[in-house]
Amino acid sequence: MNNFFACLGVGALALTGAAHASPQLAIDHGCYSCHGAYPRGEAPNFESLASKLGKYRGDADAVAKFVTKYRTGEPLEHIDAHERLSAETATTLVHWLAEGGK
Ligand code: HEC
Repeated sequence: MNNFFACLGVGALALTGAAHASPQLAIDHGCYSCHGAYPRGEAPNFESLASKLGKYRGDADAVAKFVTKYRTGEPLEHIDAHERLSAETATTLVHWLAEGGK
């Protein structure tokens, strides 16, 4: 996966205000390399992430709190792929997961 083009794509979406969450956004950010059908190490797969984050559905405050915690890597282990996300992209992805990640 070419990160340069992934970034361009996301940047263009952000500019047009059309950054809809979708599996493509997760693919672009390499999420599936750890959280895919064959999770790497202790990474939960997307299905269990979605059921875990389902409790934040419709609760923007809880999502925002989770996003902060998630991007700073506390109390989780530090994971570059998480910490590299902009607040906006992380929020979009967390919303998407809270809605079931489909
Ligand atoms: C290098 C591997 C790796 C990549 C890439 C990765 N993750 Fe993770 N992720 C993990 C691991 C490992 C955990 C579990 C950390 C823990 O429980 O301490 C985790 C946990 C999570 C959690 C749960 C946090 C919690 O509080 O339970 C979410 C949500 C998540 N990842 C989303 C994503 C998204 C979205 C992406 C794509 C931007 C992504 N991850 C990319 C390894 C990765």
